[in-house]
Amino acid sequence: MALRRTIALPRMLRSAARIPMGISGEHRRGLATAVPPVTQDATGSKGPTAMVFLNMGGPSTTAEVEDFLSRLFADGDLIPLGRLQNYLGPLIAKRRTPKIQRQYADIGGGSPIRKWSEYQCAEMCKLLDQLSPESAPHKPYVAFRYAAPLTEEMYAQLLADGFGNGKGGRAVAFTQYPQYSCSTTGSSLNELWKWRTRLEGKRANCDVDATGTIQWSVIDRWPTHPGLIEAFARNIEDQLKTYPEEKRNSVVLLFSAHSLPMSVVNRGDPYPAEVAATVHAVMQRLNFSNPYRLCWQSQVGPSAWLGAQTSDTVQEYVKRGQTDLVLVPIAFTSDHIETLYELDLEVMEEANHPGVKRAESLNGNPIFIQALADLAHDHLRKGELCSLQMTLRCQGCKSERCLEQKKFFAGQKYASLVQ
Ligand code: FES
Repeated sequence: MALRRTIALPRMLRSAARIPMGISGEHRRGLATAVPPVTQDATGSKGPTAMVFLNMGGPSTTAEVEDFLSRLFADGDLIPLGRLQNYLGPLIAKRRTPKIQRQYADIGGGSPIRKWSEYQCAEMCKLLDQLSPESAPHKPYVAFRYAAPLTEEMYAQLLADGFGNGKGGRAVAFTQYPQYSCSTTGSSLNELWKWRTRLEGKRANCDVDATGTIQWSVIDRWPTHPGLIEAFARNIEDQLKTYPEEKRNSVVLLFSAHSLPMSVVNRGDPYPAEVAATVHAVMQRLNFSNPYRLCWQSQVGPSAWLGAQTSDTVQEYVKRGQTDLVLVPIAFTSDHIETLYELDLEVMEEANHPGVKRAESLNGNPIFIQALADLAHDHLRKGELCSLQMTLRCQGCKSERCLEQKKFFAGQKYASLVQ
């Protein structure tokens, strides 16, 4: 499998992976004392709680681009290449590497997504400690699908920090894709489920109480959370203020989200509807102050993808004389190559008009970080394992992995709903 070929297990992971498997009881007891316990405080706290941000990630340096692309094109959940995935994926990755390296060089030498994700998660945890002392301390972790820190590295860190390995502990997988797609959040959860099975799943076969494994729950979507909507709306209002007052209401808002292959859309993926829900909620918050459209960016390869494309949309409107446009990245929670290169350096430069601008990304926005904390607090308070919506598979889904992953995260109560 291509993924196995391209990922070398980090040292920390290799040692963590050995702990639950095939070792004698004596050794197991010895190792158990070497790992700091998940402690409960004297007031009956349910903490610590691991808060794990899931996202696609990006190469922090140009040297990491080929590995990043190899993992990305090996992922059939994201880019379905059929039975030739393991052959075609690495070939496409290799061919695209020099071009993508130049793009990362043009935006400062790497993706800022790790910096922003770590910052957002750490700041959210500080707020959560105040909001939810009963589950404190909240410990921040980031798990990327295609770049460091990878899911397996995050999981090894959790084990090294005293979660699992017989000590249990609670962890929340918090997707940083506000709108659910099986290509993005679904792929990250498949990966988390895979590593959970590899690193912890054998406990039950090793005479160890399976209740000592990490107890996972998932925040799987939040497309219309009021704090998210407020953060987007404020960034749009800030950008609209840069236009003369008499023109302001005629500026077109172009919401732009990452596109999906039509094969994924036609399988019944919920993403297009959830992105549209975000757009509608933002426009409602703005009292429908401006004309707007939703368009889709970052298509790859010759197959059919969901459109209209963002670049075509801008060109078409500019050609028609509508030259006041604000691009709004609506499915990303921080800057990365799709905003800094594709929108800023390709789409806007091609438009070549000062009226074509972009709303700020969420990045370190305090309203956004408060929204993350409110969402997480709500999730912890309700004690839910995942949304009910996550238990329903796509109409065209034939994936055993999806089935097993959803059953695992839905828990005993809702596993029977997953068919
Ligand atoms: Fe959507 Fe499997 S592809 S649930």
